[in-house]
Amino acid sequence: MNEPFTIRQFHPNDIKDVVSINQRCLPENYPDQFFMGLFYHAPKAFYVAEYEGEIIGYIMCRIERGISGFGRMPVKKGHIVSVAVLQSMRHKGIGTALINAGMEGMKEYGASEFFLEVRKTNEDAIGVYENLGYSVRRVLRGYYRDGEDAYLMIKKGNGEIEEGVVDE
Ligand SMILES: CC(C)(COP(=O)(O)OP(=O)(O)OC[C@H]1O[C@@H](n2cnc3c(N)ncnc32)[C@H](O)[C@@H]1OP(=O)(O)O)[C@@H](O)C(=O)NCCC(=O)NCCS
Repeated sequence: MNEPFTIRQFHPNDIKDVVSINQRCLPENYPDQFFMGLFYHAPKAFYVAEYEGEIIGYIMCRIERGISGFGRMPVKKGHIVSVAVLQSMRHKGIGTALINAGMEGMKEYGASEFFLEVRKTNEDAIGVYENLGYSVRRVLRGYYRDGEDAYLMIKKGNGEIEEGVVDE
């Protein structure tokens, strides 16, 4: 890489690039309004990665209330809804930087833990999440439209790595 990549907050002008990256990188696609709705819900938890003036990745997140994955307390949880980096730009630490930025942003809204769903076969993404301290909490059978199972992965907000309990 000739110059470092940068991570910055999403701006509504970025929407076309973000939607395009989503369509190129993931089978789970959404209309523009879905992305914009999440942006207005938590603008400080939606980031893009730029390299040489081009957007090459994004993360968008949602703050949800629910029972903690680590106990029985009601908490605010940060949900990583979608994250992607263009294929040619992977394995350079950009996905990790986006996820870290998303988690920092979600903390600003009071999220004390984080979760996400990932395809069981998506080894690249699972590896990145594990490196960041996520662990598998349970299997969500037939979660995706094509019938594939998801792992529900969770992480505490304080950086501790917790062993997940896998409910098959
Ligand atoms: C998941 C995804 C966002 C990860 O993005 P990424 O930018 O490749 O992530 P990183 O570069 O931070 O980490 C990827 C790997 O590269 C390694 N890496 C990081 N920096 C590196 C560097 N400078 N040189 C070599 N390897 C590096 C990481 O250690 C990691 O290794 P791992 O496979 O053992 O975990 C990307 O694979 C992607 O967009 N996939 C398609 C969309 C998708 O599946 N999204 C997740 C849905 S839940």
